[in-house]
Amino acid sequence: MDFNLTEEHLMIRDAARDFAQTELLPGVIERDEKQVFPDELVKKMGELGFLGIMVDPKYGGSGMDTISYVLIMEELSKIDASASVIVSVNNSLVCYGIEKYGNEEQKQKYLTKLATGEYLGAFCLSEPEAGSDATSQRTTAIDMGDHYLLNGTKNWITNGGRSDVYLVIAQTDREKGHRGINAFIVEKGMPGFDIGPKEDKLGIRGSDTHTLQFNDVKVPKENRIGEDGFGFKFAMKTLSGGRIGIASQALGIASGAYELALKYSKERKAFGTEICNHQAIAFKLADMATEIEAARLLVMRSAYDKDQGNNYDMSSAMAKLYASKVAMEQTVEAVQIHGGNGFVKEYHVERLMRDAKITQIYEGTSEIQKIVISRGVLRD
Ligand code: CAA
Repeated sequence: MDFNLTEEHLMIRDAARDFAQTELLPGVIERDEKQVFPDELVKKMGELGFLGIMVDPKYGGSGMDTISYVLIMEELSKIDASASVIVSVNNSLVCYGIEKYGNEEQKQKYLTKLATGEYLGAFCLSEPEAGSDATSQRTTAIDMGDHYLLNGTKNWITNGGRSDVYLVIAQTDREKGHRGINAFIVEKGMPGFDIGPKEDKLGIRGSDTHTLQFNDVKVPKENRIGEDGFGFKFAMKTLSGGRIGIASQALGIASGAYELALKYSKERKAFGTEICNHQAIAFKLADMATEIEAARLLVMRSAYDKDQGNNYDMSSAMAKLYASKVAMEQTVEAVQIHGGNGFVKEYHVERLMRDAKITQIYEGTSEIQKIVISRGVLRD
């Protein structure tokens, strides 16, 4: 076992840290308040290779491993979780889905642009009546010979209004249940594809979340990913990697809040001394540091599993379940350590606390992670 990061990993982490401090931090409070999508910053992240971190360089990607992805995600999320979810969805749901399961034409046509940031991608599984219960897809794609006719509604879609490419999961044969589900590449601008109003959210307010409507959208046959009926497994397999991304986002939110609380506790004085000298605060910091390190080990374990070619369904579910719990609990503690200032926007921790909540919900709620883990435990 080796817990040390390589020189290359340290360089990547430092580059992401530097970008987050110099580029993401200015304006993060305003973007949150006004729900501003960071168009320019997304462009810069594309130039830095952050939108195709794990993609093979022959498709325009950075060719890095999952550990690098996790390190970048943690650093971006410490400062701006709205920016990091844009990165996460594009990398681990869209780019990975096409690179791993798409055919060569799909990779040439879409992946090369998604990996460089020329295109942005969205992953469309959730529906008004199919959130956690993902096999209950109501969106239909009827086989019309040379194309599929797509009809239905998708909800809470990250990058929903800003994407060029949408991976849409739909039912092609209801009789076959989950084996009658397929995944399609849908392009913005296809006739009948409408983007609904932007959601007004509690957290990650700079990210762009929409309901999408498909009314008789003609999707070419060649835009189906994989064999007929592979769509549900495609979604499940892709989401396992997505959960590593969200786990690292949660880790970053928690460690960002911890770093702010630690700094504040060394500056703020009460009862004649810095508040870190009071055991009530010192013990909070001890708990925060321990919980965050435990989350980091689980997140790294799941990234390691993916890099080694091991099955990572369970380790990614464990990492997401635990890191999101740590993010929620420890951001509350960070606000508490800041006292009245914690309730004020300029100290950042209230935003991190609001941002933390979504990590327990999207890409599979905590309850769904427990289903995945318990099934794994009982199967072993
Ligand atoms: N890999 C491969 N196959 C898998 C799999 C995996 N990880 N998980 C399940 N499957 C297969 C099963 O083997 C089964 O196939 P067979 O019948 O051929 O054996 C099939 O899929 C159905 O599986 P289940 O019977 O386990 O299905 P289920 O109805 O019990 O649901 C579930 C399983 C884990 C609860 C699943 O529905 C689930 O993960 N739900 C949550 C969905 C989710 O995460 N949504 C997030 C939306 S995306 C998002 O948030 C993106 C964003 O914008 C940020």
